Amino acid sequence: MFQKMKGTYDLLPKDTGKWQSLERTIRNVSKLFNYSEIRTPILENTELFHRGVGEDTDMVSKETYDFIDRGKRSNTLRPEGTAGVARSYIENKLYADKVPVQKFYYVGSMFRYERPQKGRYRQFAQFGAEAFGSNSPMLDAEIISYAVSVLKALKINDVEVQVNSIGDKESKVAYQKALIEYLKKDIGTLCGDCQKRYVKNPLRILDCKVDKDTELLKNAPKPIDYLNESSKLHFEGVIKYLNSMGIKYVVNKNLVRGLDYYTHTVFEVNANLETLGAQNTICGGGRYNDLVSSLGGPNTPGVGFSFGLERLMFALESIDFKGDPNFLHLYLMILGEEQKEDGMAMLNRCRLGGLSSDIDFLDKAMKGKFKQADFLNSRFVAIYGELEKAEGLINIKDQSTKKEVRINKDQLYNHIVTELMNPEPSGCGCGSDDSDDDCGGDCESDGGTCNC
Ligand code: HAM
Repeated sequence: MFQKMKGTYDLLPKDTGKWQSLERTIRNVSKLFNYSEIRTPILENTELFHRGVGEDTDMVSKETYDFIDRGKRSNTLRPEGTAGVARSYIENKLYADKVPVQKFYYVGSMFRYERPQKGRYRQFAQFGAEAFGSNSPMLDAEIISYAVSVLKALKINDVEVQVNSIGDKESKVAYQKALIEYLKKDIGTLCGDCQKRYVKNPLRILDCKVDKDTELLKNAPKPIDYLNESSKLHFEGVIKYLNSMGIKYVVNKNLVRGLDYYTHTVFEVNANLETLGAQNTICGGGRYNDLVSSLGGPNTPGVGFSFGLERLMFALESIDFKGDPNFLHLYLMILGEEQKEDGMAMLNRCRLGGLSSDIDFLDKAMKGKFKQADFLNSRFVAIYGELEKAEGLINIKDQSTKKEVRINKDQLYNHIVTELMNPEPSGCGCGSDDSDDDCGGDCESDGGTCNC
């Protein structure tokens, strides 16, 4: 028997309602912020990630799924969304669009060869947003506020937003120098990878999974202390706008993020919820002013974030998020071979009219059919047998009120729609037309609306 690959999972129908509801919230909030959906390929040229994300990052050097295709080209399953969106922005010349600030969001699968654990998969889903074309700190603040608004809309409140700045290119160079100097005499105490990074890309030492928590790295100089004037001003601007929008955050001087494209603002959102386990970073992002130019596009600044959707789902567990309910409007029960053609016609009519409907395909006995209707959470159950056919009628029962009626079979669709549009009677539901007296719930009249 085949089994799913390590680090992947099946999303079964019982859970897809929650995901759809989560995605709907994401789309609604995205509309409020005026971000439009972009869909880029899952496969990109390997080189894109080497140049975009950086070949010394863990993601590119250790975690990508690369393969040579039949045309001898090197392909990579995207490990993240930003590089592909930037590639698309350049390739489709969106920088020349009438709207100079282009704002996108995406929802889709990413692939990283990581050690799987709760909240960490080899195929996982991200919701990300990227905005190109402005260096204004207002856009950094908007991106953070957008991420926070998604969490608010989902009612995930127990979160902490951490922000930091690593500055522009010049500030990063100044910081790198200081870091090299600081590590010079002790670099031999760090892992082999860090020793290589020391030569090739010292900044990546700070997010080394092995040595990150050593005293040496904890006491290392902080990027925020090496910002040049314009980088300082930019960060002050971001903080000012976050404050003006009432967004709570903490400045974490140790936050650098593990990807090479970042400049200026970097941020993460951590959720302090038991249902998340150790992987509690639900969102990460930042500004990347040199990414577009490094990929061959014009000098265009950008800023964005990505949420891990599985982690968001775990966070939602803690607030007992139900998502979209699974239900049917109609479960049609056909009794006898002769009635099946009429049954299929009625079913089709209901479906085309917008009623979610199903039928028993297994000729189960009556008890089994009712069980199915219950499992499928059907509001109405209709029975069509030999007798009904002879009279041109159909029996229909409203499972919520237990009210049963026998109607002309051609009225099935209209009947259900009318019932669905009529709000529940405001009284006890007994059907009495007496609006003054208390019927006690056992009134036998079935005309009019009970208001007692
Ligand atoms: P990242 O921090 O690598 O950033 O990933 C963003 C989020 O994706 C993480 O915070 C986490 O929630 C989720 N995530 C990452 N790896 C896994 C995994 N193996 N399994 C489950 N979830 C995972 C980026 O990807 C950047 N592209 C973010 C960005 C967008 N920066 C600017 N724009």
